[in-house]
Amino acid sequence: MAFEPSFSHRHLISAAQLSAADIHFLFSHATKYLNFSRSRVDKPLDELQGVAVVLAFFENSTRTRFSFDIAAKRLSAEVTTFQAAGSSVSKGESLLDTVRNIEAMDVDILVLRHPSSGAAHFLRDRVQSSILNAGDGWHQHPTQALLDAFTLYNRVSSVQGLKVCILGDILHSRVARSNIDILRTLGAEVAVCGPGTLMPFAIDTFGVRRFRNVHEALEWADVVNVLRIQSERMKQGLFPSEEEFVRYFGVSMQHLRRHPNVLVLHPGPINRGVELDSEVADSPQSLILSQVQHGVAIRMALLSLVARNRRLQQ
Ligand code: CP
Repeated sequence: MAFEPSFSHRHLISAAQLSAADIHFLFSHATKYLNFSRSRVDKPLDELQGVAVVLAFFENSTRTRFSFDIAAKRLSAEVTTFQAAGSSVSKGESLLDTVRNIEAMDVDILVLRHPSSGAAHFLRDRVQSSILNAGDGWHQHPTQALLDAFTLYNRVSSVQGLKVCILGDILHSRVARSNIDILRTLGAEVAVCGPGTLMPFAIDTFGVRRFRNVHEALEWADVVNVLRIQSERMKQGLFPSEEEFVRYFGVSMQHLRRHPNVLVLHPGPINRGVELDSEVADSPQSLILSQVQHGVAIRMALLSLVARNRRLQQ
């Protein structure tokens, strides 16, 4: 299918705001950067020269923060990182005041990670800089879903018609919500599988199939996207025991031997021995480190297109 050039967004808040044309346009840009990173061309890219990018992280991160940092620097942006730990947030400064003060230092693009669902949306309507959502509470993690789909696109050529089952703690997962949006927009068939207590109340309205255990899921799926249990977002134990979770929903090498063509995604961080066996994470069927590599290219493409849109819309 041919797609018209697209992607006129100044902000990225939710995966649901992206059309198939937007996603394919982003992928075509990301492919250029993937090749650039692999070839290690001497000449730096200067598309973001003079653009100030702030990485505002109010919640811990390894992959997303480093990936945006590397992506912005590879395009010659001026990059600064704000971390809530050690900042004046501990003195009671609000999110909005914090960001307005950062913005007063002439910021163009603000990459926001925050524990509250809706934080990125809230800021978008109140600040001048472009807001890129790097994960807000249980709500959305759009660049994670884009890099997941881009990894599959590079591995199997087309996401359309692919059967992808998201496995584990769906309730607390912004990754699951964003993946469902992006994958369905691209024409994939999507399923979820996890304990009933870790399913969103309205899961029947998400347009996905549902499987009761990992065996059923693997019989159906081309790809499993395995999620960790997000204990930091639980007020109380929502499943009887870790052993029971592993028995019904954990992915083992036995499973992979039975289903040698199933690909394994995981957004990280991994809890080895819980949602998947350590050998599964390192097996040839695992695309986990490939996801991380593709993430830099996706974030380069996003930063570049958002900066372009800001210039065009000034
Ligand atoms: N996948 C992901 O968002 O990882 P981090 O929390 O390390 O950024």
